[in-house]
Amino acid sequence: MSHVFLIGFMGAGKTTVSKQVALQLDRPWVDLDAEIEATARKSVREIFEDAGEEAFRELESAQLAALSGADPSIVACGGGIVVRDENRAMLKNLGLVVYLRVSPGETLARVGADGTRPLLSGPGGVLAATRLLEARESLYTAVADVTIDTVGRDIDDVIADAVASIKERRA
Ligand code: S3P
Repeated sequence: MSHVFLIGFMGAGKTTVSKQVALQLDRPWVDLDAEIEATARKSVREIFEDAGEEAFRELESAQLAALSGADPSIVACGGGIVVRDENRAMLKNLGLVVYLRVSPGETLARVGADGTRPLLSGPGGVLAATRLLEARESLYTAVADVTIDTVGRDIDDVIADAVASIKERRA
């Protein structure tokens, strides 16, 4: 048994899906952004504002690396986890990677206006989300063992697909 990482763009449903998957499989649940916030004693938004994106990425890589000795868990990753080469290598080495695919439009509809995502908070939301998602798509697919489309789908169906894929691969 190894870790299972839920990856994908902001608003893909990684947190909700991973939490339910962890409950159904009776495995520990880890939210990487929440771990970063607890360690830094700041919100993600504050880290971006005070120290910038690169500083956030450093904390994110360190938090991911810290999972190498932990009990096999279901891990919700931040949407930018795939940007660094070292993170993609760690994801592949440490477990099964489940990619939840979402569209820019649904991202904005789900989380665009809640103020918690610094990378979506500037002007030109749809264009910014589209460009960022396009730039990352190949990184998500390069590291994914399983891809699940979430666009227009009921969250319970997505959860059921994720559970089935993990059981199938005995991850
Ligand atoms: C980010 C996604 C966020 C959070 C941070 C950066 C990104 O996580 O880690 O705001 O670069 O896509 P969610 O994907 O959980 O929103």
